[in-house]
Amino acid sequence: MRSLAGTVVLITGGTAGIGRTTARLLARNGAHVAICGRDQERLDAALREIPRAWGMCCDVTVPADRERLVRAVAERFGRIDALVNNAGQGRVGKLGDLTGDQVSTLVDVNFTAVADLTRLVLPAFGARGGHVVMMSSVSAWVPIPPLSLYSATKAGVLGLALGLRREVPRGVRVHVVCPGPIRTEWLSRELNGRRPSTSHRTVSPQGPIRGTWLVR
Ligand SMILES: NC(=O)c1ccc[n+]([C@@H]2O[C@H](COP(=O)([O-])OP(=O)(O)OC[C@H]3O[C@@H](n4cnc5c(N)ncnc54)[C@H](OP(=O)(O)O)[C@@H]3O)[C@@H](O)[C@H]2O)c1
Repeated sequence: MRSLAGTVVLITGGTAGIGRTTARLLARNGAHVAICGRDQERLDAALREIPRAWGMCCDVTVPADRERLVRAVAERFGRIDALVNNAGQGRVGKLGDLTGDQVSTLVDVNFTAVADLTRLVLPAFGARGGHVVMMSSVSAWVPIPPLSLYSATKAGVLGLALGLRREVPRGVRVHVVCPGPIRTEWLSRELNGRRPSTSHRTVSPQGPIRGTWLVR
């Protein structure tokens, strides 16, 4: 693997779950990681745990926060080598049962913030180029009821990544990750021990996702 020593990686939502684990692993391998989240206490706890990490309390659904975040990372480290668009939320519930605010928040955090942060970071890569990682989901390929809206936001992220690959300058690499269910906080919180009401069957109880399921 190419050395990560000295590289600067901005990971949105690096204060919990997949983002926090990713931040810890990258930092252990020499990267300087910048993380963000809305909860100051959790951010502080993550910063104590991750070597050399820097963080900012912000909400990626707020346009001014997105600009502040990218500017602060570029100023502090003098460069950005990679953006991991990880911050995201799950929302279990049939579309007809959600409120309008829940619909807009989910689209804002899972899609709009991803597109806009990517737009803001691309110029910071400069002539060196860089990496953009999009956190999509297996549900982008197999929409999962009652997570249809969530699945659609992740299909949007997948489509964005595939399109971007063909329009970004040489030297910029766009990656997309489509994990299956991983027992992190949002999945536990949203399901709260429940099974989805829609009929389903287990298709992928393996590795770290044992005990959770994918519905189709
Ligand atoms: N877990 C799964 O089964 C699974 C499967 C496929 C894909 N994914 C995707 O993987 C990514 C990470 O998921 P996870 O399971 O690790 O979630 P998680 O444990 O709930 O962590 C989400 C992280 O994002 C941050 N965040 C959420 N909303 C934010 C906002 N508006 N502004 C700034 N930060 C925000 C959270 O911090 P604060 O709450 O403090 O803001 C937290 O650090 C998400 O994009 C998710 O859709 C997850």
